[in-house]
Amino acid sequence: MKSIIEPFRIKSVEPLHHTTADQRQAFLEQAGYNLFLIEADRILIDLLTDSGTSAMSTAQWAAIMRGDESYAGSPSFYRLERVARELTGFRHIIPAHQGRAAERILFSVLCRKGQVIPSNAHFDTTRANIEFHGARAVDLPSPEAADTQARLPFKGNMDVPALRQLIAREGAGRIPLIMLTITNNSGGGQPVSMANIREVSEVARQNGIPFYLDACRFAENAWFIHRQEPGYEQRTPKQIAQEMFSLADGCTFSAKKDAFANIGGLLCANDDRLAQQEINLLILTEGFPTYGGLAGRDLEAIATGLQEVLDPDYLRYRIASTAYLGRHIADQGVPIVEPPGGHAIYIDAGRMLPHIPKEQFPGQALAVELYRHAGIRSVEIGTLMFGPAARFELLRLAIPRRVYTQSHIDYVVEAILEVNARKEQLRGLKITWEPPFLRHFSARFEPLGR
Ligand code: F0G
Repeated sequence: MKSIIEPFRIKSVEPLHHTTADQRQAFLEQAGYNLFLIEADRILIDLLTDSGTSAMSTAQWAAIMRGDESYAGSPSFYRLERVARELTGFRHIIPAHQGRAAERILFSVLCRKGQVIPSNAHFDTTRANIEFHGARAVDLPSPEAADTQARLPFKGNMDVPALRQLIAREGAGRIPLIMLTITNNSGGGQPVSMANIREVSEVARQNGIPFYLDACRFAENAWFIHRQEPGYEQRTPKQIAQEMFSLADGCTFSAKKDAFANIGGLLCANDDRLAQQEINLLILTEGFPTYGGLAGRDLEAIATGLQEVLDPDYLRYRIASTAYLGRHIADQGVPIVEPPGGHAIYIDAGRMLPHIPKEQFPGQALAVELYRHAGIRSVEIGTLMFGPAARFELLRLAIPRRVYTQSHIDYVVEAILEVNARKEQLRGLKITWEPPFLRHFSARFEPLGR
């Protein structure tokens, strides 16, 4: 059979909320044209993020009832530790309340002012956490990623020659760690090949620099390797994930993505001395190391999710359903970052709306119009989010895991094509207020006239 179906059926449902275009215009005005500031029950289809928005399985809900809430020594922690250790091979498995908490602890321990942290591409909170510590976050994407239209298999890779040059220029002593984000979230959700992970790992080792994975979407990355990288066709996603982790010294992980959990994160490390410093800080701000800012029931949900996410039937459906959205809009003339990534489709708003300069935020203009037209929420990933570090003006349509069905996605396709048909009428925005960090979350805007 050619049809790829959702590998689950629905036991519990949540109603969606319809609104009129006039109501949505009023909500936009109240929210200063920032979709983060709109109440979620005024959204019809929410593609803001795939983070913490997954539908949990019956097995996860059952595990939640088993959650042990002991302050110290909870069996739920030891279960998560066993699952995560078997998957990653790391000696220390440190729970945290979400990915950025793990990042903050890691960077507090490792980073000093004036240092440099390279990555294929840092995501927003990672970049902000590094800059908050006075260090510099440097993106080294592969040159292939510069053309959003090129259909190449591993456009999430790091540019290894550029990494070598950076180390030669800065000196290894000024680089406290090298990170690799799998899949590459700010670079279109594109995967990183095993060959690239291995090469970066070797460069790190040669220079005595710790190598960390930002492993939020490790299972989706493993599936792309299984499908596209020679030599991995016969390996299971789990075996591939184990190989990826074996090449690193540690990882940060947001369980809100590829563990189907609504909250949670992990910081993993092999280095005993480093882990002890991390645990000391964890106790100060997150909690005792057998819960790390989470409830015992959350630890159970993560442990179960980490096992479920590696199911080949799930991953086949997941990646195919993202591609379904991508192909249906791209083949009708909407420029997306090609090829479709793992967790999201990214419209190249700079290319779609060439009449809106980047200082007027074409991605945000498109996000606002898609909400006004059809109640769909998406997120700008461009100059608004990253300032001058932005390489493209993108609009991300992130797909929550196991939440929306094909007919929801068909509605999204129809809405995007309708907006695309009158794209010349869209106008940019101007910021009227912004905070000092991570401005996209709370900035307010005014639409520019025609
Ligand atoms: N790293 C990457 C690559 C991410 O995508 C995220 C979160 C984080 C770290 C931080 O994890 O949210 O648990 O603190 N990304 C979400 C998104 C928010 O919408 O892409 P967190």
